[in-house]
Amino acid sequence: MTPAIKVVETIAEMKRVRHELVGTVGFVPTMGYLHEGHLSLAKQAKKENPSVVVSIFVNPTQFGPREDLASYPRDMERDLALLEKEKADIVFAPSATGMYSTRFDSWVEVGEVSHRLEGASRPTHFRGVTTVCAKLFNIVEPTRAYFGQKDAQQALVIRKMVSDLNMNLEIVTLPTVREPDGLAMSSRNVYLKPEERKAATVLYQSLTLAQQMWSRGEKNAGRIRQEMISLIKKQPLAEIDYVSVADAETLEELVEVRPPALVSLAVKIGKPRLIDNVVLE
Ligand code: PAF
Repeated sequence: MTPAIKVVETIAEMKRVRHELVGTVGFVPTMGYLHEGHLSLAKQAKKENPSVVVSIFVNPTQFGPREDLASYPRDMERDLALLEKEKADIVFAPSATGMYSTRFDSWVEVGEVSHRLEGASRPTHFRGVTTVCAKLFNIVEPTRAYFGQKDAQQALVIRKMVSDLNMNLEIVTLPTVREPDGLAMSSRNVYLKPEERKAATVLYQSLTLAQQMWSRGEKNAGRIRQEMISLIKKQPLAEIDYVSVADAETLEELVEVRPPALVSLAVKIGKPRLIDNVVLE
């Protein structure tokens, strides 16, 4: 059976088919190995636009030299079957050489907000993300692009790029999709060994603790950070990279919680490094 979904592998072809689309275009940029989080974005995109384009591209420029580019999980056949069910119209799956010629040397970089948290731990990460998103936005020319709140800083950085550079699209951020025990869906969860998978619930437990402290009236950001750290440290497989209680717009660390505040963390559970967050409203 011929799949209804159209798979496009070159930039020239993507630009050509884009111009055949009538009405608004919803765009879901992904690195593939799709999970319910990605599918919730595709679903919402389909509700809001007659045409939906999903990109599947493991973007080399957002991985650091010691990160998991080579082993990043990939399964195109499964991804296409899942997107078919969501009635996505086009999958744009370019090659790395198609996206980055050997002479490629132009970068899009957002300031301050991209240097904190994930940016401090992964110094070239956001430059890679914003550059590839700028390229994808230029190629796909979407009306709206959909991102998950799970990568809260990424969504913030992309919003800033779109606003500062007057890009002609709307950024939509949708809630994090979680497993029944609270673990945020992520393509990297596949790396977790069974005992690590159990230990990984400590991320959401510590975020829930922060929410509980805030709703009981705790305003001291330091105390919230400290209680979260103590809880995570009880889990022997967990190694904290950062625990942050920051202004949700600037990502500056707070002394006193002023809503909306972003409580976020990055924790290694065995080899995989996981991130998650909640917003204190
Ligand atoms: O969130 C991701 O999967 C990636 O960072 C993105 C936005 C597709 C850019 O490569």
